[in-house]
Amino acid sequence: MLLVAALCLNLWSIRSEEITIKIKKRYLNFPVLQAEDRKEMVFVVDGKTVFSFNIRLATLNPDYWVFCDVSALKGKTLTLNYPGNLSGLKKIYQDDEFAGYDSLYHEKNRPQFHFTTQRGWNNDPNGLLYYEGEYHLFYQHNPYEREWENMHWGHAVSNDLIHWKELPDALYPDKIGTMFSGSAVIDYNNTAGFNSLNKKSKEYVPAMVALYTADNPEKQVQCLAYSLDKGRTWTKYKQNPIVDSRARWNSKDTRDPKVFWYKPGKHWVMVLSERDGHSIYTSSDLKDWVYRSHTTGFWECPELFELPVDGNSEYTKWVMYGASGTYMTGNFNGTEFFPEAGKYYYTTGSAYAAQTFTNIPESDGRRIQIAWGKISHPEMPFNGMMLLPTELTLRTTKDGVRLFSFPVKEVKQLYTDEMEWKSLTSAEANERLTRYQSNDYLHIQTTIKLFSATSAGLSLDGQRIFDYDMNFNRVNGVFYSPEDITSMEITADIYIDKTSIEVFVDNGAYSFSMERKPEGHQDGIRFWGDNIEVKRLVVHPMLSIWGRAI
Ligand code: FRU
Repeated sequence: MLLVAALCLNLWSIRSEEITIKIKKRYLNFPVLQAEDRKEMVFVVDGKTVFSFNIRLATLNPDYWVFCDVSALKGKTLTLNYPGNLSGLKKIYQDDEFAGYDSLYHEKNRPQFHFTTQRGWNNDPNGLLYYEGEYHLFYQHNPYEREWENMHWGHAVSNDLIHWKELPDALYPDKIGTMFSGSAVIDYNNTAGFNSLNKKSKEYVPAMVALYTADNPEKQVQCLAYSLDKGRTWTKYKQNPIVDSRARWNSKDTRDPKVFWYKPGKHWVMVLSERDGHSIYTSSDLKDWVYRSHTTGFWECPELFELPVDGNSEYTKWVMYGASGTYMTGNFNGTEFFPEAGKYYYTTGSAYAAQTFTNIPESDGRRIQIAWGKISHPEMPFNGMMLLPTELTLRTTKDGVRLFSFPVKEVKQLYTDEMEWKSLTSAEANERLTRYQSNDYLHIQTTIKLFSATSAGLSLDGQRIFDYDMNFNRVNGVFYSPEDITSMEITADIYIDKTSIEVFVDNGAYSFSMERKPEGHQDGIRFWGDNIEVKRLVVHPMLSIWGRAI
């Protein structure tokens, strides 16, 4: 009897509850409580399931709110199904603004000069692409929670790589799977046949084509979608998937296609992370792909691109890297990568899954990269960020050809009130720095010269944001050997935002990034280490990218 009662209670408690809403406004706002379990929210219209996602719907007071843009359903009657949480369902409301819109981008712990998503979780940058005056930043996005789940492609655009405008999500999970990482290209030659004639101008609009991984419990397959309106709306290819290599590798780890046009061979190249490394596939039409070769020793988020060495276009090398950022240099013949040197690192810390832009105009010629910053923002309804866009270059060093990464010049537009000092003692430098408060957003450039081979650097409220140890040859714990090994000098470009620190050493020879975690002191920025000369100190307070001076 008791058992039956308990069973009934259990069934009752997980029974699906539902509410019905006639959609008149743009957004549905959902309350989220991290302490709840994730359950499936199902959208039903005219008896048909149109959409679903997992969410921790709050029964009690929510930690924060998330939203879903339902403008496509305007005028329709939407039924929301969710297991066992009628009080949560009843809290959902529609509005033309999403909850918290009033304070958007000015929330307490919102980074002020890095891209973050409005709501939810972000990881990898995807589909980085320049097209007709716009830089496109797609990214791994969970719109419904500040943790990883429900992968969509988020979307933001910029005309200067610095000020971003977030647009509605570009790719939604479908029957094949959730939307994992990938890349995008412009199909100028209509190789895939998606281009369309603009009736007015009589010109062909080339398709923007996204190649992404669809992930499901069984496997990860590569798919394609295209857009004829600059990435605003997307059509998925009916014959998806276009690559299914689960059987070849006997592994579920086949993902993150990075595609580019290989000019000398007049064909497309896809670099794909497969089990233990990066594979090369080629295609003439973006749809049919032929497996060509494989380079072991990489994990996730492949990249492969050519760079001039020391700016000399007659002498180039190819760079291959994976999500960790460790790279090899070598040659590429269109079907196979031949490693010559590596693996080396050029960056460490919170950077992961960096991708470079395709279709940057030849007149610009830069190789521009954005990395995911694995950085959290206490109490915020969003999580993760994009690190500053950097330009990648290959330069000859005393150790051979190495990859450098340094913030793009566009960052300089955020500088204000430059102050510069030369040849100071650390006490003098600290005195100059007292005018900057811990809550300022700053770019600091400094060259220090040590007088004793111990360690020195900079701290921010007690956190060692730059720590050069000459005895062990380490910068913040990682081996680093400067170009001029007896100079005892080192230069750092330090970017301090609300929740993150990025440091570029010796013009980008090495960089690192970290969460900003004050150690309880409130003494702001301080040089430490007794025997140093601050040869140069330049400070720029930074403007916010979100449209107001900080
Ligand atoms: C890297 C990664 C990718 C994958 C994506 C899923 O951070 O694991 O390999 O496509 O994240 O969000």
